[in-house]
Amino acid sequence: MKDLDTPTIVVTGGNSGIGLETAVALAGRGAEVVIGCRDPRKAAGATAEIRRRSGNESVRSLRLDLADLRSVERFAAELSTLDHIDVLVNNAGLVCDRRMETAQGFELTFGTNHLGHFHLTNLVLDQLRAAPSGRIVNLASVAHARSVDGITWSDMGRYRRYRTWRVYGDSKLANILHAEALAERLADTSVVAHAVHPGSVRTGFGRDGDTSGATASLMELNGVAQRLGLLRTPEQGAATSVHVATSAAAGRSSGLYWRDSHPARVAPWTRRRGDTAVLWENSKRLVSAVS
Ligand SMILES: NC(=O)c1ccc[n+]([C@@H]2O[C@H](COP(=O)([O-])OP(=O)(O)OC[C@H]3O[C@@H](n4cnc5c(N)ncnc54)[C@H](OP(=O)(O)O)[C@@H]3O)[C@@H](O)[C@H]2O)c1
Repeated sequence: MKDLDTPTIVVTGGNSGIGLETAVALAGRGAEVVIGCRDPRKAAGATAEIRRRSGNESVRSLRLDLADLRSVERFAAELSTLDHIDVLVNNAGLVCDRRMETAQGFELTFGTNHLGHFHLTNLVLDQLRAAPSGRIVNLASVAHARSVDGITWSDMGRYRRYRTWRVYGDSKLANILHAEALAERLADTSVVAHAVHPGSVRTGFGRDGDTSGATASLMELNGVAQRLGLLRTPEQGAATSVHVATSAAAGRSSGLYWRDSHPARVAPWTRRRGDTAVLWENSKRLVSAVS
Protein backbone atom coordinates (compact mmCIF):
# COMPACT_ATOMS: atom_id res chain seq x y z
CA MET A 1 0.00 0.00 0.00
CA LYS A 2 1.38 3.38 -1.01
CA ASP A 3 2.09 5.95 1.69
CA LEU A 4 -0.62 8.60 1.30
CA ASP A 5 2.00 11.32 1.82
CA THR A 6 3.99 10.19 -1.21
CA PRO A 7 3.13 12.45 -4.13
CA THR A 8 2.45 10.84 -7.48
CA ILE A 9 3.90 12.61 -10.51
CA VAL A 10 3.37 11.93 -14.20
CA VAL A 11 5.87 13.38 -16.69
CA THR A 12 5.28 13.07 -20.43
CA GLY A 13 8.46 12.76 -22.50
CA GLY A 14 10.34 11.86 -19.33
CA ASN A 15 12.95 9.88 -21.21
CA SER A 16 15.18 12.77 -22.26
CA GLY A 17 16.18 16.39 -21.82
CA ILE A 18 14.11 18.59 -19.51
CA GLY A 19 11.55 15.84 -18.81
CA LEU A 20 14.21 13.39 -17.67
CA GLU A 21 15.77 15.96 -15.33
CA THR A 22 12.33 16.93 -13.99
CA ALA A 23 11.68 13.27 -13.23
CA VAL A 24 15.09 12.86 -11.53
CA ALA A 25 14.51 15.94 -9.36
CA LEU A 26 10.97 14.95 -8.34
CA ALA A 27 11.89 11.29 -7.72
CA GLY A 28 14.80 12.63 -5.62
CA ARG A 29 12.21 14.35 -3.41
CA GLY A 30 10.57 10.96 -2.79
CA ALA A 31 7.72 11.13 -5.31
CA GLU A 32 6.33 8.11 -7.11
CA VAL A 33 7.09 8.95 -10.75
CA VAL A 34 5.55 7.64 -13.96
CA ILE A 35 7.14 8.72 -17.23
CA GLY A 36 5.17 8.52 -20.47
CA CYS A 37 7.38 7.66 -23.46
CA ARG A 38 6.82 6.64 -27.06
CA ASP A 39 9.95 4.50 -27.40
CA PRO A 40 10.10 1.50 -25.00
CA ARG A 41 13.88 1.13 -25.37
CA LYS A 42 14.53 4.76 -24.40
CA ALA A 43 11.91 4.42 -21.65
CA ALA A 44 13.72 1.45 -20.07
CA GLY A 45 17.07 3.27 -20.12
CA ALA A 46 15.54 6.44 -18.67
CA THR A 47 13.70 4.55 -15.91
CA ALA A 48 16.96 2.90 -14.82
CA GLU A 49 18.78 6.26 -14.94
CA ILE A 50 16.10 8.11 -12.92
CA ARG A 51 16.11 5.33 -10.28
CA ARG A 52 19.91 5.31 -10.07
CA ARG A 53 20.36 9.09 -9.92
CA SER A 54 17.46 9.76 -7.53
CA GLY A 55 17.97 6.71 -5.31
CA ASN A 56 14.20 6.13 -5.62
CA GLU A 57 12.93 2.79 -6.95
CA SER A 58 9.33 4.06 -7.35
CA VAL A 59 9.84 5.05 -10.96
CA ARG A 60 8.21 3.34 -13.93
CA SER A 61 7.45 4.05 -17.54
CA LEU A 62 4.32 3.55 -19.58
CA ARG A 63 3.92 3.70 -23.33
CA LEU A 64 2.59 7.05 -24.60
CA ASP A 65 2.52 8.40 -28.12
CA LEU A 66 0.94 11.86 -27.94
CA ALA A 67 0.60 11.86 -31.71
CA ASP A 68 -2.02 9.11 -31.42
CA LEU A 69 -5.09 9.89 -29.32
CA ARG A 70 -5.83 6.16 -28.93
CA SER A 71 -2.37 5.74 -27.35
CA VAL A 72 -3.16 8.69 -25.06
CA GLU A 73 -6.36 6.87 -24.01
CA ARG A 74 -4.47 3.61 -23.33
CA PHE A 75 -1.93 5.56 -21.25
CA ALA A 76 -4.72 7.23 -19.26
CA ALA A 77 -6.41 3.83 -18.75
CA GLU A 78 -3.16 2.43 -17.31
CA LEU A 79 -2.85 5.47 -15.04
CA SER A 80 -6.39 4.87 -13.76
CA THR A 81 -4.97 2.41 -11.19
CA LEU A 82 -3.57 5.49 -9.38
CA ASP A 83 -6.19 6.78 -6.94
CA HIS A 84 -4.83 10.30 -7.35
CA ILE A 85 -2.24 12.24 -9.37
CA ASP A 86 -0.55 15.14 -7.59
CA VAL A 87 1.28 16.61 -10.58
CA LEU A 88 0.89 16.12 -14.31
CA VAL A 89 3.85 17.59 -16.20
CA ASN A 90 2.84 17.99 -19.85
CA ASN A 91 6.47 18.16 -20.98
CA ALA A 92 6.86 16.23 -24.24
CA GLY A 93 7.19 18.25 -27.40
CA LEU A 94 8.72 18.51 -30.81
CA VAL A 95 9.38 20.92 -33.65
CA CYS A 96 9.03 19.82 -37.28
CA ASP A 97 10.39 21.54 -40.37
CA ARG A 98 7.77 20.11 -42.71
CA ARG A 99 4.11 19.23 -42.59
CA MET A 100 3.46 15.83 -41.03
CA GLU A 101 0.36 14.30 -39.44
CA THR A 102 -0.65 12.53 -36.26
CA ALA A 103 -2.40 9.14 -36.38
CA GLN A 104 -5.75 10.97 -36.52
CA GLY A 105 -4.64 13.35 -39.28
CA PHE A 106 -3.88 16.51 -37.29
CA GLU A 107 -0.80 18.56 -38.12
CA LEU A 108 1.93 16.87 -36.05
CA THR A 109 3.36 19.79 -34.04
CA PHE A 110 0.01 21.11 -32.77
CA GLY A 111 -1.36 17.56 -32.53
CA THR A 112 1.51 16.39 -30.30
CA ASN A 113 2.41 19.48 -28.30
CA HIS A 114 -1.16 20.57 -27.57
CA LEU A 115 -3.97 18.21 -28.62
CA GLY A 116 -2.38 15.06 -27.16
CA HIS A 117 -1.83 16.85 -23.84
CA PHE A 118 -5.30 18.45 -23.96
CA HIS A 119 -6.88 14.99 -24.27
CA LEU A 120 -4.61 13.42 -21.64
CA THR A 121 -5.28 16.18 -19.10
CA ASN A 122 -9.05 15.82 -19.48
CA LEU A 123 -8.79 12.03 -19.09
CA VAL A 124 -6.90 12.25 -15.77
CA LEU A 125 -8.66 15.32 -14.38
CA ASP A 126 -10.66 13.35 -11.78
CA GLN A 127 -7.42 11.89 -10.41
CA LEU A 128 -5.87 15.37 -10.22
CA ARG A 129 -8.99 16.53 -8.40
CA ALA A 130 -8.61 13.60 -5.99
CA ALA A 131 -5.16 14.86 -4.92
CA PRO A 132 -5.01 17.24 -1.95
CA SER A 133 -3.54 19.94 -4.19
CA GLY A 134 -3.27 18.81 -7.83
CA ARG A 135 -1.06 20.65 -10.30
CA ILE A 136 -0.78 20.71 -14.07
CA VAL A 137 2.47 22.03 -15.56
CA ASN A 138 2.55 22.71 -19.31
CA LEU A 139 5.95 23.11 -20.98
CA ALA A 140 5.45 26.15 -23.17
CA SER A 141 8.20 28.36 -24.58
CA VAL A 142 9.23 31.94 -25.18
CA ALA A 143 8.73 30.88 -28.82
CA HIS A 144 5.00 31.51 -28.28
CA ALA A 145 5.97 35.11 -29.17
CA ARG A 146 6.21 33.96 -32.82
CA SER A 147 2.45 33.61 -32.78
CA VAL A 148 1.69 37.20 -33.81
CA ASP A 149 -2.07 37.90 -33.46
CA GLY A 150 -2.60 34.47 -31.95
CA ILE A 151 -3.09 30.95 -33.19
CA THR A 152 -3.65 30.56 -36.95
CA TRP A 153 -7.13 29.04 -36.72
CA SER A 154 -7.79 29.64 -40.41
CA ASP A 155 -5.22 26.98 -41.38
CA MET A 156 -4.68 24.60 -38.48
CA GLY A 157 -4.00 21.76 -40.93
CA ARG A 158 -1.09 23.85 -42.33
CA TYR A 159 -2.03 23.09 -45.91
CA ARG A 160 -0.86 26.56 -46.90
CA ARG A 161 2.76 27.65 -46.41
CA TYR A 162 4.50 25.67 -43.64
CA ARG A 163 6.54 28.00 -41.43
CA THR A 164 8.34 25.89 -38.84
CA TRP A 165 8.71 28.44 -36.05
CA ARG A 166 5.22 29.90 -36.54
CA VAL A 167 3.72 26.41 -36.31
CA TYR A 168 5.82 25.65 -33.23
CA GLY A 169 5.01 29.08 -31.73
CA ASP A 170 1.28 28.46 -32.17
CA SER A 171 1.59 25.11 -30.37
CA LYS A 172 3.49 26.73 -27.48
CA LEU A 173 0.94 29.56 -27.25
CA ALA A 174 -1.68 26.80 -27.06
CA ASN A 175 0.20 25.33 -24.07
CA ILE A 176 -0.10 28.72 -22.32
CA LEU A 177 -3.77 29.25 -23.23
CA HIS A 178 -4.54 25.65 -22.21
CA ALA A 179 -3.15 26.36 -18.71
CA GLU A 180 -5.24 29.56 -18.54
CA ALA A 181 -8.38 27.73 -19.67
CA LEU A 182 -7.79 24.96 -17.11
CA ALA A 183 -7.26 27.54 -14.38
CA GLU A 184 -10.64 29.11 -15.19
CA ARG A 185 -12.43 25.77 -15.30
CA LEU A 186 -10.79 24.49 -12.12
CA ALA A 187 -11.15 27.72 -10.13
CA ASP A 188 -13.48 26.11 -7.58
CA THR A 189 -11.24 23.06 -7.07
CA SER A 190 -7.85 22.53 -5.41
CA VAL A 191 -6.17 21.92 -8.80
CA VAL A 192 -3.96 24.65 -10.30
CA ALA A 193 -2.54 24.83 -13.83
CA HIS A 194 0.49 26.77 -15.06
CA ALA A 195 2.69 27.08 -18.14
CA VAL A 196 6.48 27.44 -18.04
CA HIS A 197 9.35 28.50 -20.27
CA PRO A 198 12.42 26.43 -19.32
CA GLY A 199 14.98 28.83 -20.82
CA SER A 200 17.12 27.95 -23.82
CA VAL A 201 18.33 24.49 -23.01
CA ARG A 202 20.81 22.17 -24.65
CA THR A 203 18.77 18.97 -25.22
CA GLY A 204 18.06 16.68 -28.14
CA PHE A 205 15.20 19.02 -29.07
CA GLY A 206 14.81 19.37 -32.85
CA ARG A 207 17.81 17.16 -33.49
CA ASP A 208 16.26 13.73 -33.14
CA GLY A 209 14.79 13.19 -36.57
CA ASP A 210 11.89 15.63 -36.55
CA THR A 211 13.87 18.33 -38.30
CA SER A 212 16.41 18.49 -41.07
CA GLY A 213 17.97 21.14 -43.27
CA ALA A 214 17.80 24.73 -42.05
CA THR A 215 16.05 23.93 -38.78
CA ALA A 216 18.56 21.20 -37.94
CA SER A 217 21.39 23.64 -38.69
CA LEU A 218 19.79 26.14 -36.34
CA MET A 219 19.59 23.47 -33.67
CA GLU A 220 23.26 22.64 -34.30
CA LEU A 221 24.07 26.33 -33.73
CA ASN A 222 22.39 25.80 -30.36
CA GLY A 223 24.98 23.08 -29.73
CA VAL A 224 27.76 25.59 -30.38
CA ALA A 225 26.02 28.08 -28.10
CA GLN A 226 25.95 25.45 -25.33
CA ARG A 227 29.65 24.79 -25.69
CA LEU A 228 30.18 28.53 -25.35
CA GLY A 229 28.14 28.37 -22.15
CA LEU A 230 25.17 30.28 -23.61
CA LEU A 231 22.56 27.57 -23.11
CA ARG A 232 21.31 25.94 -19.95
CA THR A 233 21.97 22.36 -19.02
CA PRO A 234 18.85 20.14 -18.99
CA GLU A 235 19.05 20.12 -15.18
CA GLN A 236 18.96 23.94 -15.11
CA GLY A 237 16.18 23.81 -17.71
CA ALA A 238 14.08 21.60 -15.42
CA ALA A 239 14.32 24.06 -12.51
CA THR A 240 11.21 26.11 -13.38
CA SER A 241 9.09 22.97 -13.98
CA VAL A 242 10.21 21.60 -10.60
CA HIS A 243 9.53 24.93 -8.91
CA VAL A 244 6.02 25.13 -10.34
CA ALA A 245 5.38 21.46 -9.49
CA THR A 246 6.43 21.83 -5.86
CA SER A 247 6.55 25.42 -4.53
CA ALA A 248 3.96 26.90 -2.23
CA ALA A 249 3.89 30.04 -4.41
CA ALA A 250 2.78 28.12 -7.50
CA GLY A 251 0.13 26.32 -5.44
CA ARG A 252 -1.41 29.64 -4.38
CA SER A 253 -1.95 30.89 -7.94
CA SER A 254 -3.20 29.42 -11.20
CA GLY A 255 -3.13 30.10 -14.95
CA LEU A 256 0.27 31.83 -14.91
CA TYR A 257 3.23 31.68 -17.30
CA TRP A 258 6.56 31.18 -15.48
CA ARG A 259 10.16 31.93 -16.45
CA ASP A 260 13.19 31.51 -14.18
CA SER A 261 10.83 30.32 -11.43
CA HIS A 262 8.88 33.61 -11.45
CA PRO A 263 5.58 34.61 -13.08
CA ALA A 264 6.24 36.34 -16.41
CA ARG A 265 4.30 38.22 -19.06
CA VAL A 266 2.88 36.45 -22.10
CA ALA A 267 3.86 38.36 -25.29
CA PRO A 268 0.98 40.90 -25.62
CA TRP A 269 0.94 40.75 -29.44
CA THR A 270 -0.11 37.08 -29.27
CA ARG A 271 -3.28 37.88 -27.30
CA ARG A 272 -6.76 38.10 -28.75
CA ARG A 273 -9.89 38.59 -26.72
CA GLY A 274 -11.57 35.33 -25.77
CA ASP A 275 -8.81 33.14 -27.18
CA THR A 276 -8.58 30.79 -24.18
CA ALA A 277 -12.23 29.89 -24.71
CA VAL A 278 -11.69 29.56 -28.47
CA LEU A 279 -8.75 27.20 -27.88
CA TRP A 280 -10.80 25.08 -25.48
CA GLU A 281 -13.83 24.81 -27.79
CA ASN A 282 -11.75 24.12 -30.90
CA SER A 283 -9.64 21.50 -29.11
CA LYS A 284 -12.76 19.79 -27.78
CA ARG A 285 -14.31 19.80 -31.25
CA LEU A 286 -11.16 18.42 -32.93
CA VAL A 287 -10.75 15.63 -30.36
CA SER A 288 -14.43 14.63 -30.44
CA ALA A 289 -14.43 14.60 -34.24
CA VAL A 290 -12.04 11.62 -34.18
CA SER A 291 -13.34 9.85 -31.05
N1 LIG B 1 15.21 22.87 -25.19
C1 LIG B 1 14.77 24.11 -25.16
O1 LIG B 1 15.56 25.08 -25.28
C2 LIG B 1 13.32 24.40 -24.93
C3 LIG B 1 12.91 25.75 -24.86
C4 LIG B 1 11.56 26.04 -24.65
C5 LIG B 1 10.66 25.00 -24.49
N2 LIG B 1 11.07 23.70 -24.58
C6 LIG B 1 10.05 22.65 -24.41
O2 LIG B 1 10.50 21.72 -23.45
C7 LIG B 1 9.89 20.44 -23.69
C8 LIG B 1 10.94 19.37 -23.58
O3 LIG B 1 11.88 19.53 -24.63
P1 LIG B 1 13.42 19.16 -24.50
O4 LIG B 1 14.18 20.38 -24.81
O5 LIG B 1 13.69 18.41 -23.24
O6 LIG B 1 13.59 18.21 -25.79
P2 LIG B 1 13.85 16.64 -25.96
O7 LIG B 1 15.06 16.23 -25.19
O8 LIG B 1 13.81 16.40 -27.43
O9 LIG B 1 12.60 16.00 -25.24
C9 LIG B 1 11.34 15.96 -25.86
C10 LIG B 1 10.60 14.77 -25.31
O10 LIG B 1 9.31 14.72 -25.93
C11 LIG B 1 9.09 13.39 -26.38
N3 LIG B 1 8.12 13.31 -27.46
C12 LIG B 1 8.15 13.91 -28.68
N4 LIG B 1 7.09 13.51 -29.42
C13 LIG B 1 6.38 12.63 -28.63
C14 LIG B 1 5.21 11.88 -28.82
N5 LIG B 1 4.54 11.88 -29.98
N6 LIG B 1 4.76 11.12 -27.81
C15 LIG B 1 5.42 11.07 -26.62
N7 LIG B 1 6.57 11.74 -26.40
C16 LIG B 1 7.03 12.52 -27.39
C17 LIG B 1 10.47 12.94 -26.83
O11 LIG B 1 10.49 11.52 -27.00
P3 LIG B 1 11.63 10.82 -27.94
O12 LIG B 1 12.87 10.77 -27.10
O13 LIG B 1 11.04 9.49 -28.22
O14 LIG B 1 11.80 11.69 -29.15
C18 LIG B 1 11.30 13.42 -25.65
O15 LIG B 1 11.17 12.56 -24.56
C19 LIG B 1 9.21 20.56 -25.05
O16 LIG B 1 7.82 20.70 -24.85
C20 LIG B 1 9.80 21.82 -25.66
O17 LIG B 1 8.87 22.46 -26.52
C21 LIG B 1 12.37 23.38 -24.80
